[in-house]
Amino acid sequence: MANPVTNALRLSKAGFILARYDALLPPDQSAKAPWLVRIGSKIAQIGAEKNLQGGQHNRLTLALSKLGPSYIKLGQFLATRPDVIGAKRAFELKALQDKLPPFPQAEAEAIVESELGKPVSQLFKTFGPSIAAASIAQVHKAETHEGKQVAVKILRPDVERRFANDISSFAFAARQAERWSQEGKRLRPVAAVAMLETSMVHELDLRMEAAALSEMAQNSKDDPGFRVPEVQWALSNKRVLTTEWIDGTPMADVEALRTRGLDLSLLGDTVIQSFLRHAIRDGFFHADMHQGNLFVDPAGNLVALDFGITGRLSEGDRLFLAEILYGFITRNYRRIAQVHFDAGYVPETEDVETFAQALRAIGEPIMGLPAGEISMSRLLTQLFEVTEQFNMQAQPQLLLLQKTMVVTEGVARTLNPNLNIWKTGEPVVRSWIERKLGPLGKIEQALGSAGTLGSLALRVPRLVDEAHKVHRKLDAFVTAQSAPANPWPPRFLAICALALVVIATRLVLR
Ligand SMILES: Nc1ncnc2c1ncn2[C@@H]1O[C@H](COP(=O)(O)OP(=O)(O)O)[C@@H](O)[C@H]1O
Ligand SMILES: [Mg+2]
Repeated sequence: MANPVTNALRLSKAGFILARYDALLPPDQSAKAPWLVRIGSKIAQIGAEKNLQGGQHNRLTLALSKLGPSYIKLGQFLATRPDVIGAKRAFELKALQDKLPPFPQAEAEAIVESELGKPVSQLFKTFGPSIAAASIAQVHKAETHEGKQVAVKILRPDVERRFANDISSFAFAARQAERWSQEGKRLRPVAAVAMLETSMVHELDLRMEAAALSEMAQNSKDDPGFRVPEVQWALSNKRVLTTEWIDGTPMADVEALRTRGLDLSLLGDTVIQSFLRHAIRDGFFHADMHQGNLFVDPAGNLVALDFGITGRLSEGDRLFLAEILYGFITRNYRRIAQVHFDAGYVPETEDVETFAQALRAIGEPIMGLPAGEISMSRLLTQLFEVTEQFNMQAQPQLLLLQKTMVVTEGVARTLNPNLNIWKTGEPVVRSWIERKLGPLGKIEQALGSAGTLGSLALRVPRLVDEAHKVHRKLDAFVTAQSAPANPWPPRFLAICALALVVIATRLVLR
């Protein structure tokens, strides 16, 4: 891990670039910022290109792109956290493009050779130029000596080292924020950076992506209308992933799909049903289902690429999710409420009837909408807002699912604007509940007066939660014992540090 001075210098460089693009502070807050920050920003902008002073979003996304892969990922991550950076900024960051100029062909071939231990000509019959380049990797089209068309994804040179440096700076900044600011403590940035780090460590090891593809292929081998490209294990390693080339129509090109005479409404159903099947039946889902990662192959199958980000749900989570969705479909709010208590997600000090009432307030208006406007993701979004009011601890795996569902529904709706999400999703949810718990009649019987199964699966998370609580209390106790008293007012220290940072950066980057 880098020392505090290196971290402060790296962050100051980032702060300088953000300030130079006039993107350090949101416009509505720049007037309220301490005078030193305002002056520092003005100094940083001396000599900056004036044509960058366009829209705020343009400036922020440009600055983050300039700062490199980890900042692009950080921006994308923050785009999903309007609670942290405000709805407006989160919206602006959604436009953050993950497209970069490709790195040179010679470098790409050198990485392939060192990763696979043979000259490119021995590995492939032909090896074409880059066809897509993003912040972490780029993709080349190639042909094997057996005549198979393949896609070769190659990590950017040096991306791992740059990422390790940046994440160490983010962690340093997060620790300072938690230490010095009340607001910082509430937002738990240290935990957020740890989450970003875990997800990036997986994304930066293409063997993990290969394994995810292979697991998904196994889980979905009998799924109607869905498949993933086959992994070429012999031509893959940590920095290189070779998969079967998909000669398909991009999902983004709806006109081309229509021209091919495909049934777009059926395709929309496949998008939703595949996602739900993977989440509920397998507990393993593609968590980056945007249009750029979806294709339709010549046989009309939906093909998902890019398994860098995936989500997992435990057996208990899946039962919980299926129960909730089924509860809303059947408008059984008492049952949904009870499921939250049985899973131990909502503390027993809360009142189940009042909770059920709050759930009804979410469910009824949504269920009353015309089919094309009912949104499962909106329902889950509102559900998690309400559960927070009832002191449910945030469940990152369920939040990831809800965020992916927002994207998945968006894709399905571009194919069929009148898609009825409930009707489409219902058979998947019902068949899983039936398979898991026996025929529905039996379920109702087993539900008894409480309205839920109260199964062991749903009780396990509560035990885990208890263990976490004890751990957290111990943690808090230890921190309280060891935290040194702070003789300096934090604001004074922050302003001094910032002044130093601006001056140092100005000197270093001159
Ligand atoms: N197996 C494949 N067949 C055809 N095109 C592919 C394949 N894999 C990747 N691509 C193309 O390369 C692009 C980038 O690949 P992807 O795995 O999504 O990487 P990234 O993580 O950079 O988004 C895809 O959007 C697609 O156009
Ligand atoms: Mg992609």
